[in-house]
Amino acid sequence: MLRVAITCATIMAFAASAMGGVADTKHNFTSAASSPDAYFTGASQVCAYCHTPHNASNTMMPLGSHEPSSQTYIMYDSPTMDMSRTAQPNDPSLVCLSCHDGTIAVNALNPVPGASGAGTYGTPSGSALDGSGLLTTSSDAYVGTNLSDDHPVGIIYNAGQDNDFEVKTGNSNNYPDKLLYNGTYVECSSCHDPHDNTWGSFLVESNSGSALCMRCHNK
Ligand code: HEC
Ligand code: HEC
Ligand code: HEC
Ligand code: HEC
Repeated sequence: MLRVAITCATIMAFAASAMGGVADTKHNFTSAASSPDAYFTGASQVCAYCHTPHNASNTMMPLGSHEPSSQTYIMYDSPTMDMSRTAQPNDPSLVCLSCHDGTIAVNALNPVPGASGAGTYGTPSGSALDGSGLLTTSSDAYVGTNLSDDHPVGIIYNAGQDNDFEVKTGNSNNYPDKLLYNGTYVECSSCHDPHDNTWGSFLVESNSGSALCMRCHNK
């Protein structure tokens, strides 16, 4: 009986750590321990860098607080692409790019916690941020505004146009339906979940054996 209890406790402890939470990831910008290369001193609210409970200022994500980027992105293109795509990325990509394109400060929020409007939250610290809170171009996390060297986003998924693709339908927030934004588009959110770093690189699942790639590609 005791052994069963210990085993259960061990499994539960493992499950808790494996599930993690955004606070244990590099997306916790209030903590030098969680995000040693990019954090802000004088800030304590983990969720506030992306969400606000009131007066949300953008629709890139639910209850969005982060300032949007106003960049025009260079999109991926190649002669072997078959599906159509939108001229620019859609919201579930724009939200990531609002920090990862390096043109908007990670701590540029509207509203700032405890204040009534837009401003900056905390003082930048760590080698991946410059003095104004922008992601530096030398950071591994820097994507920039040229997306021509990145997996395409804004793609209108249509397996009928290429039999090298899995047929995908449905639209819910549950993975794997989350693979396609609005049941249609390939975006950053197809492969990444900003809250969960269980699989590394905030991936939605393990990419061991390229399992993630094969959710869509028949290769
Ligand atoms: C680095 C940015 C970021 C941080 C920090 C963040 N979120 Fe999110 N959140 C997002 C994005 C982007 C979405 C929309 C895409 C998605 O659903 O994954 C989202 C969606 C959500 C949703 C709605 C969809 C769902 O998954 O249920 C909830 C609820 C949520 N976040 C809660 C939180 C809470 C609570 C925290 C703090 C503990 C937090 N988030 C921290 C970026 C963030
Ligand atoms: C509020 C700003 C912000 C938003 C929004 C945001 N990120 Fe990040 N992200 C960062 C910062 C800052 C880091 C840490 C960079 C470092 O430590 O070098 C980071 C780290 C990462 C990393 C880890 C990189 C590494 O070196 O391990 C990945 C992957 C990532 N983000 C993907 C995303 C994706 C995908 C989205 C959208 C769903 C997103 N992020 C939304 C600011 C943001
Ligand atoms: C088709 C799937 C897919 C899409 C779409 C995608 N990513 Fe990734 N991303 C990955 C994988 C897989 C990795 C891990 C790469 C590795 O381990 O070498 C990664 C890694 C990253 C990293 C960590 C640094 C790096 O280059 O390894 C960042 C930051 C990132 N992605 C941001 C984004 C952003 C922002 C978008 C949308 C513009 C995006 N990703 C779209 C699959 C994707
Ligand atoms: C959510 C579905 C999805 C996932 C997951 C995904 N892809 Fe894709 N990928 C696509 C779509 C759709 C295209 C555009 C195909 C077209 O129009 O022919 C594409 C395009 C590509 C292309 C460029 C094709 C060309 O003709 O230029 C490559 C290479 C690629 N993906 C590799 C990967 C790899 C590697 C992974 C895993 C890290 C991955 N993909 C994960 C859907 C996905």
